[in-house]
Parts: sequence; C-alpha cells; structure tokens
Amino acid sequence: MINGTIQAGLEIGSTTIKCIIGSITGNTIKIEGHASVDCKGIREGSVVNIAQTVESIKEVIERSEELAKHNIKYVNLGIHGSHIESKDNEAAIAIFSPDKEIGVSDIRQVIESARAIQIPMDKQIIHSIPKEYIVDNQRGVVDPRGMVANHLKVEVYLITALASAITNLKRCVEKAGIEVNNCILTSLGTAGITLTEEEKKIGCFLIDIGGTLTEITCYSQGAIRGFKAVKNGSYYITNDLAYILKTSFEEARKIKEDYGFAMDKYLPKEGKISYMKLDGRTKVEIPVREISKIIVDRLDDIYEEMEGFIMMLREKFLVASCVITGGGAALPGIAEYFEEKTGLISRIGLPRNCTGEDAIINSPAYTGAIGLLKYDINQEMPSYTRGTKGRRGGLLDWLKKFF
Ligand SMILES: Nc1ncnc2c1ncn2[C@@H]1O[C@H](COP(=O)(O)OP(=O)(O)OP(=O)(O)O)[C@@H](O)[C@H]1O
Ligand SMILES: [Mg+2]
Repeated sequence: MINGTIQAGLEIGSTTIKCIIGSITGNTIKIEGHASVDCKGIREGSVVNIAQTVESIKEVIERSEELAKHNIKYVNLGIHGSHIESKDNEAAIAIFSPDKEIGVSDIRQVIESARAIQIPMDKQIIHSIPKEYIVDNQRGVVDPRGMVANHLKVEVYLITALASAITNLKRCVEKAGIEVNNCILTSLGTAGITLTEEEKKIGCFLIDIGGTLTEITCYSQGAIRGFKAVKNGSYYITNDLAYILKTSFEEARKIKEDYGFAMDKYLPKEGKISYMKLDGRTKVEIPVREISKIIVDRLDDIYEEMEGFIMMLREKFLVASCVITGGGAALPGIAEYFEEKTGLISRIGLPRNCTGEDAIINSPAYTGAIGLLKYDINQEMPSYTRGTKGRRGGLLDWLKKFF
C-alpha cells in the first residue's frame, strides 16, 4: 500500500450501502468522500435484487466520488452474512535450504498447506489468517521471516463464504462500473479500525449490530478466535415498534433513532412522545419508557441468540471487553446494556486514527466501510516484494549481484 494513494471501501449492508473514499498515510486515514444510500436489493448480506442493488451501488459511488473529487476504479468489497463460517487448522513444513533460514516462500507454502482442507463445493476460503507460527518448538512467533529452523508450523483461522453469494455481490459492483480489489469479511475491516492491539490481546468481543444481522468476532491473545453471524438486528427493533405501536415503518424507525434507549429501567416514568398511527390521521402519546421496553425486549432476543457462542468462547479464552459497533450501536445506552449482560467492560466502537467529517468519524455505522478501505490483505499472506529480504530476495537483489 503506497502512502497517500486513494482507496475505497464498499459495505453492502441490508439497510444501507456505504462507500468511503480516502487516503492512508502511515497509520492515519483521511476520509475524502463518503455516502450512504438505502438499499432494498440485499437481505442478510446476500443479493435478492440485482437491478436495485446495482442502482444503489452506482449512486453511493457517484456521491462519494463527488465529495472526494476523485473517480475510483477499485473498491475493497465487504462480505458478510449467515453463510460465513470459520474453522481452525494447522500445517507444518520442513525447511530444506542449506542455511535453514525461513523465507517468504516457506511462509506462503505453510499457509497454502493449512488452506488445504475439505470444504463444501459451494464454499470458498476468503481468509486464512495466521494466528501463530511455531518455529521448531518455539510457540508464539508472530513473524518467522529470517529465523533459522528445521520446521515451520502455522495455526490459521480459515474463513469461508458461499461462492455464489460472493459472485453475485461482485457482479453487482462490476455492473455498476467498478472493479473489486479484494473481497473481505467486513468484520475484519471493522476490527482493524475500531479495536486496539491491547484489546485484542486481553480479549474482546466485537459486536456489529446491523439491520438484519448481528456479527460477533472474538479476539484473544492478539489473534482472532471466533466469528458468528446472527440473523437478527436493529431492523427488527423497528419492525417490533411498528407492529406494537401500530405505526408506519418509517415513523417507527424515527421513534427508535430519536427517542430509543437501550436501558428502560433507568428512564423516568413521566417522559412521553407523540406519534402518528398507521392511518396517518390519529396522533397518540406513549411514555418513552414503553418504547425502550420494546427495544430492550428485542435486544434481549438478539443477545439470547449469541449468548451460547459468547459463553463457549469465554470458557476457552480470556475475554475482558465488548466493543459495540454498526448502525444499531448508535442507540444510547447500548454499551451499558452489553456491560450488564456480559459483565465485561463495554464501549462503542468508532473509527480510530481517522480524520474527516464529524458525522462520519463519530458514527459507529461507518466502521465497516472505513475498515474495508484500510484492510491490507497482504498481512495474511506475505508477498515476495514486501517486508524483510529473506533467503530468496526480490528481483532487485538478484540483479544487484551482476553489477
Ligand atoms: N441513532 C440510531 N439509533 C438507533 N438505531 C440506529 C440509529 N442510527 C441507525 N440505526 C439503525 O442501524 C441499522 C442499520 O445499521 P447498519 O447500517 O450497520 O446496517 P447494515 O450494514 O445496512 O445491515 P446488515 O449489516 O445487517 O447487512 C438500522 O436499523 C438503523 O435504524
Ligand atoms: Mg453491516
């Protein structure tokens, strides 16, 4: 990644499609252009209407390009949904070179071996994330390049996705006139932009509350330990409000976003708001506390669906905190809600090391798109042209021998 080059992240969510255009210098992202467009062509991360999705992608790209005053050719495309699965695997190789120095090609080879697992025909591996290298018997090696050993072992976290879901998403982006650079699990991008290295070390659940999906990614001892997508999210809060209050979906969404609170018991009993019923004529009043009760009931439902997964991981790994992000995290009191449920320190996940419009960098809804922009796929598989020289140097080193 060259300092200062313009890059883009595209998150195709089931509520909105978001695009962020920006440049990265060192560790800082400068957001140059952004847009968010409603989309009805996506359901739980997968395309259900190509034409509508293509139109929304075109619009979101055009609007962000206008702000950035820069046309983009490529995007990092976010993949998410309940079709995402993950699996741990490991592989080992012998180092055959005379000096026994581990080079980039050895690392690539051992990761390739760890990727060689049987997966269903309709799935494809989208990430193979090295969690730890074991150099001879020495565990905990983060980067084995240049080390001397007889054997190199790697423990990887493999993430698979439904191949057709990826193809359909990519097709929509390409039909909108943009090429896809890399397909990335959105939550990995989000983790990269919201979590600190310290949080990943001491253990953290990243909880992304979207419209129809809530995704949980767990980190502990500096590595990814689990991922799960639950088919439930903030869209269903709106749905419950609309159904129970007998009002329109739009009115319910506004009530949630303007007056919603994730901790009903702390609200005063008196506060009331008025809203329009479904007939568009009758105005009624309701205590704010009642609204929050409906919201908390749905949050309890979402939490119940992920509780087993959270418990299972806490039994295996040390986890100290929760970071809540995604559009659904904009609900006041949400961090306190998760703190009470899990007993873990909780906070809202916002983009770190980011400059740009306040509305974007202070919103948990854009963490996915910003994270996608920044995600460097090379961190998973070292390339021959980057990093330390290693045993088999680049073309330049080879040429130097002749001059
Ligand atoms: N201030 C707010 N308070 C409460 N909820 C909010 C607020 N702002 C946005 N939301 C909700 O966040 C949800 C959208 O979140 P997000 O943009 O992360 O979803 P998405 O990425 O489109 O969906 P998914 O990840 O499920 O595919 C909507 O249901 C929206 O109503
Ligand atoms: Mg989302």
